[in-house]
Amino acid sequence: MSRIERRKADHIEVTLKEKVVPDYDYWGDVKLVHQALPEVNMDDIDTSVTLFGKRLEFPLVVTAITGGFPQAEKVNRNLAEACSKMGIGLGVGSQRPAIEKGDDGTYSVIKEFDVPLVIGNVGAPQLVKQKRKRPFSVEDVAKAKDIVGADIMAIHLNFLQEVVQPGGDVNACGCLDGIRSLAREMPCMVKETGAGISRETALLLKGTGIVGMDVSGVGGTSFAAVEMYRAREQKDQMGSALGATFFEWGIPAPAAVIEADVGLEIIAGGGMDDGLRMAKGVSIGANAAGCARALLADAMESSEKVVEKLERMKAEFKAAMFLTGCHSVPELRERRVIVSGRSADWLTAAERC
Ligand SMILES: Cc1cc2nc3c(=O)[nH]c(=O)nc-3n(C[C@H](O)[C@H](O)[C@H](O)COP(=O)(O)O)c2cc1C
Repeated sequence: MSRIERRKADHIEVTLKEKVVPDYDYWGDVKLVHQALPEVNMDDIDTSVTLFGKRLEFPLVVTAITGGFPQAEKVNRNLAEACSKMGIGLGVGSQRPAIEKGDDGTYSVIKEFDVPLVIGNVGAPQLVKQKRKRPFSVEDVAKAKDIVGADIMAIHLNFLQEVVQPGGDVNACGCLDGIRSLAREMPCMVKETGAGISRETALLLKGTGIVGMDVSGVGGTSFAAVEMYRAREQKDQMGSALGATFFEWGIPAPAAVIEADVGLEIIAGGGMDDGLRMAKGVSIGANAAGCARALLADAMESSEKVVEKLERMKAEFKAAMFLTGCHSVPELRERRVIVSGRSADWLTAAERC
């Protein structure tokens, strides 16, 4: 296995085996208001939404996880089969290996299924020059888009991970221009990977021509934690210390949805482990929820297991709509919602409430 392949395999192994999420329940800060008299027939509830111009049966995207090493083919196949059955969106993991070495089938496997919204993936750090590495061109990214038949490319922001990882790509100068150049040529969104997107960053990104953001904040997978465990394994004391110190770095996931609301379409991510959390994300302004870690163990097994989990999430989402008296997803976005705890503290201090 090459170094990159090993890293991809480690990310999955560590996420499945270790504690990579914070103790604090950030989505527990958000409460939907129970309506004892909902005046809705549950059978008439419409959970569908339109995201980036594509109709989804319910507002969920399985966000970027993997690709580029042998085991990834099974994961992406199972996810794609399940997403096509359930009528929801799917993102692939970073396509850097496919751009550097050509497609190995672990990404393009998803083309065998009719997934309503396909999201390609490339890292912002790869859009600028790093030590000994040339930046990806617009043509490189267009090739990645074709490999998976993407409707839109996600450009990921993962500088928390890069700073903890030994030899990480830590030149962030010029990323904004890189994103702007891509967004001129193809539909693009930007996604965080677990540390959230601030109002300042959202406003900068809005000016690049992207159409949306996955704001993935603190509350789910922490990539500082993932890299901390990898560093421990490699007896790298500096990486291990940095990962521990920055384990919970970033913007609380619910606060990031409100912070980053600058008029673009928003995916709420970071700890979206059930359908009630999805409803909370939508009720505070997201167009859809994004989920990665909670589906990983099932994706390693079979598409049926993934479908089972997604059906549960859909049922929970629908139950939350029913109990808040909503016929449709736009109504859920209008419902009163209570935000407390650390997320409210953040928003108050940032003067967003
Ligand atoms: C094993 C693993 C690998 C990931 N790889 C990528 C990636 O290649 N590109 C990316 O944009 N995000 C990647 N992510 C981040 C997720 O898409 C998501 O933003 C983040 O994990 C927060 O969601 P969660 O709490 O539901 O896991 C990865 C997440 C996991 C768990």
